[in-house]
Amino acid sequence: MNSKHQFVQLSDGHFIPGLGFGTYKPQEVPNSKTTEATKIAIEAGFRHIDCAYVYQVEEEVGQAVRSKIADGTVKRQDIFYTSKLWCTFHRPELVQSSLERSLKKLHFDYVDLYLIHYPFSMKPGEELFPKDENGKTIYDHVDLCAVWEAMEKCKDAGLAKSIGVSNFNRRQLEMILNKPGLKYKPVCNQVECHIYHNQRKLLDFCKSKNIVLVAYSALGTQREKPWVDQSSPVLLDDPILGALAKKHKRSPALIALRYQLQRGVVVLAQSFKENEIKENIQVFDFELTAEDMKDLDGLNRNYRYLAAEFGADHPNYPFADEY
Ligand SMILES: NC(=O)c1ccc[n+]([C@@H]2O[C@H](COP(=O)([O-])OP(=O)(O)OC[C@H]3O[C@@H](n4cnc5c(N)ncnc54)[C@H](OP(=O)(O)O)[C@@H]3O)[C@@H](O)[C@H]2O)c1
Repeated sequence: MNSKHQFVQLSDGHFIPGLGFGTYKPQEVPNSKTTEATKIAIEAGFRHIDCAYVYQVEEEVGQAVRSKIADGTVKRQDIFYTSKLWCTFHRPELVQSSLERSLKKLHFDYVDLYLIHYPFSMKPGEELFPKDENGKTIYDHVDLCAVWEAMEKCKDAGLAKSIGVSNFNRRQLEMILNKPGLKYKPVCNQVECHIYHNQRKLLDFCKSKNIVLVAYSALGTQREKPWVDQSSPVLLDDPILGALAKKHKRSPALIALRYQLQRGVVVLAQSFKENEIKENIQVFDFELTAEDMKDLDGLNRNYRYLAAEFGADHPNYPFADEY
């Protein structure tokens, strides 16, 4: 990593900014909030934007980026934009056209990073969460290596500068890494990662293979009802995080973000609030000591806020393995 923004070099030679702006939003939040917040984030200094087809806000994010290009704040090449392949588009013949759909919504020629969002596949079609008449998810069964080969073609076509995965466990990463004829390895694995689930083993494995770990829900998620158990601990209320915040005269959110940067993890932070967005970019302005890092490591309890059940009855469900 180098100074100020702390860019991390990916195995394919491209650079990813160490802090990214998260754009997932619950359905009841109006899409216009995303346009507004993304513009604020770019003005505040964010240069890495994390999105996905399934978030259904790529039009709004594209609009925000283009307006910040039009007013001279940034150029397209200053922005690192991530999109993700949704589970209903895993069939190899659907992969590139799915990316092209995202690009059309964004009005971009390329994405900086394209990820396989989850390792399990769902029935192809327009429905994002296909269900049968009993309300059960309708899955699909696609060889992950074949999905990966289609991702490689997107990179070769110049539609994605880099390609990677999300929510893969070690076994699934190894399957791709050991694929005969592998052309490009995944540059990153984006997973839930925070003080209560610090992914130490997965992080060590990724580092040993030159795969960057990207942390989502580093602030403890948006605590959205259908996805997060409302009785789960509120991460930003953790007393040790609070004590370190006091010590460094920074907010608990900044301590939680800084923790990831200092362990070589690229970290995402979501917010719709201007004051929080402006605060989060200050993560580059201070340092935690080795002892602080040890205290934060001590909070790990392998607690997962998200996706505990989503995909659980698919053979590629990633979270049944130890890591
Ligand atoms: N690959 C995947 O499967 C996956 C899954 C989940 C998320 N993601 C990505 O990761 C991003 C971030 O994760 P997330 O959406 O779960 O949320 P998060 O970043 O863990 O937490 C967001 C919440 O933290 C609070 N917050 C933010 N900055 C703060 C500050 N400075 N002080 C106090 N509170 C602050 C905000 O709550 P208030 O607004 O209430 O203050 C916000 O709702 C997503 O938006 C998405 O891009 C990817």
